[in-house]
Amino acid sequence: MTMREKLDLLERRRAESEQGGGDARLKTQHEKGKLSARERLELLLDEGSFVELDRFVVHRSTDFGLETQKFYGDGVVTGQGKIDGRLVYVFSQDFTVFGGSLSESFAEKIVKIMDLAMRNGAPVIGLNDSGGARIQEGVVSLGGYAEIFLRNTLASGVVPQISAILGPCAGGAVYSPAITDFIYMVRGTSYMFVTGPNVVKTVTHEDVTMEELGGADTHSATSGVAHFACDSEPECLQHIRDLFRFIPSNNLGEAPRGVGTDPRERRDESLLDIVPDNANKPYDMHEVVKRIVDDAEFYEVHREYAGNIICGFAHLGGFSIGVVANQPAVLAGVLDISASLKAARFIRFCDAFNIPLVTFEDVPGFLPGVTQEHGGIIKHGAKLLYAYCEATVPKLTVITRKAYGGAYDVMSSKHIRGDFNVAWPTAEIAVMGPKGAVEILFRKEISESKDQVAATEAKIEEYREMFAHPYIAAGRGYLDDIIDPRDTRPVLIAALESLETKRDKNPPKKHGNIPL
Ligand code: HXC
Repeated sequence: MTMREKLDLLERRRAESEQGGGDARLKTQHEKGKLSARERLELLLDEGSFVELDRFVVHRSTDFGLETQKFYGDGVVTGQGKIDGRLVYVFSQDFTVFGGSLSESFAEKIVKIMDLAMRNGAPVIGLNDSGGARIQEGVVSLGGYAEIFLRNTLASGVVPQISAILGPCAGGAVYSPAITDFIYMVRGTSYMFVTGPNVVKTVTHEDVTMEELGGADTHSATSGVAHFACDSEPECLQHIRDLFRFIPSNNLGEAPRGVGTDPRERRDESLLDIVPDNANKPYDMHEVVKRIVDDAEFYEVHREYAGNIICGFAHLGGFSIGVVANQPAVLAGVLDISASLKAARFIRFCDAFNIPLVTFEDVPGFLPGVTQEHGGIIKHGAKLLYAYCEATVPKLTVITRKAYGGAYDVMSSKHIRGDFNVAWPTAEIAVMGPKGAVEILFRKEISESKDQVAATEAKIEEYREMFAHPYIAAGRGYLDDIIDPRDTRPVLIAALESLETKRDKNPPKKHGNIPL
């Protein structure tokens, strides 16, 4: 064969490798409202940036007649590409080849790009659409999964790992995405469960649809397994691209600076009236966050889950920040199990990847109740406390209103290495709210008074005067300052600038023992 003939052959084989499982299966894929593995990569990556690896890999199985069914690539497209010019490693499972099921060779391809990502300090993005373990390969396939799980774990905190679930993801296969940092799902086409509806029916006699059991809304709103639920695959892939505006490529890198035009010194008049005079009235903490960060742009994580706490990324004075904020508009912003879990994991991501934390605090405490206690609010709340305590990134806190009880300590207080803690004049920092305190402290006195309602009111007022303000905390240096709410943006930006060179370390250890 001449060189030209050999090149022709190469070209034919390359073209064949891009056919996946063939036109009929691709048609079925499209009919289900799903894109092909390659179409997804085109949307995810900068145009023309994808460089494929291992396109000629095939499986090595000879059981069940598989030796006659071979597809170049073996059901997963892997390689590297760019997002906003930055290197990322990707795998995109191809449902048209053996249902995207994972064989030994398939796993080896994923392992290869994970190892490259670790070596080169670049994020890994996995696009999942798979029937799980390749049944014909048995334990070899299970071994392949375990190789991936191990790398997910070793890469955790070293490079960001992102999972999009764009089809089925069942059985043990769910545990690779579960270890990654963020999971994106698409309504109507993506599912995650350890066992599907049929097994559930047999074991627990529950009737449940795929969507109810493990669809995007279920996991983003109820279980909290997924961080984002999108309406379509293009939206999902664009949303992943957007995340990269806030996160660094690895734990030694820096997050990209924001490109907004919001003036550094901008004061916001509307912040003056945002907290209602009545301490029991709600307001939307989203508004506070949006009026302070650059160009009102907030990339919210876990929006549908545990709405009583808000987590997400923004830029502030161009710095990428992780925002954690109590939300008085949902359950009065109380800390419960779900809120603790949500925020703890977010804080640990930010700390692992050097993203400063800005906490907006208005919290009445931890949620009382049998369900919460029996559900382990003690150990779950401890996760949030632990995450804040161990974080060594710059930690800034603004108390807008309530900071009561243990929740005051937990929410990035000075005592747990808060770097810059300020309060608005509306802040109330105390062991508990006035009503609860008065009922405990003056129960006897009130019960003996003729007009109990008036006596309670008087005591509440007395308590409020004494404790429901920020001056005791400020008097002890627990707050660095009490600020005009309108100045919050410039004040925080100045603090972030001074903390750019922050150095802090935890004591050397193998690892801590976060209360799991
Ligand atoms: C080999 C598989 C496969 C698998 C699907 N296919 N799953 N081949 N191993 N696990 C093949 C089918 O034979 C079919 O091949 C093609 O993929 C498309 O499958 P369909 O069933 O036609 O598609 P659909 O109707 O959309 O159903 C999708 C599905 C279903 C819900 C995923 O295929 C299914 O239930 N698959 C088995 C899922 C499963 O039990 N996997 C093992 C889970 S345990 P043709 O040639 O007809 O196109 C597991 C353990 C992981 O994964 C352990 C990690 C520790």
